[in-house]
Amino acid sequence: MRLVLPASAMAAIMLALAACSTVAEPAYYGDPVEGLDVAQRLCSSCHAIGREGTSPNPGAPPFRFILARNDPALLAEKLDEAVSINHLRMPTFYFGEHHAEDLVAYIKTIQQPQPAQLP
Ligand code: HEC
Repeated sequence: MRLVLPASAMAAIMLALAACSTVAEPAYYGDPVEGLDVAQRLCSSCHAIGREGTSPNPGAPPFRFILARNDPALLAEKLDEAVSINHLRMPTFYFGEHHAEDLVAYIKTIQQPQPAQLP
């Protein structure tokens, strides 16, 4: 027997399923250790990713000042969507699941107030 459902019923079912999965899935806050690993692999060629030091690419702000200028929640979203951030000089990244949250979790651990003049 073949069950044929009208499109509207299918849509309602899909929505219900989507709602369930969002409720069931625990919030993910990111793993800073994983984030450091991603930063080393994908970002450190341009950005200073630690608590000190200058960026290899003088135009790239050190990660320890990034949250002084960016909202952490929005940053994770932007990174996740691989939208180039504010500018066109950043490469597009393809992250694995959670890598954006991991990066932001790591970036949070090294934040410092931004100096008047970027080093
Ligand atoms: C090829 C060099 C390069 C790589 C690799 C790179 N960036 Fe950048 N990034 C830049 C440059 C240059 C800027 C600043 C340019 C500008 O804002 O116009 C920048 C700016 C940023 C900003 C905006 C900072 C701010 O305060 O406005 C964020 C966030 C950022 N990068 C995150 C990352 C992350 C996360 C990675 C690794 C996944 C990464 N970048 C890898 C070159 C790079």
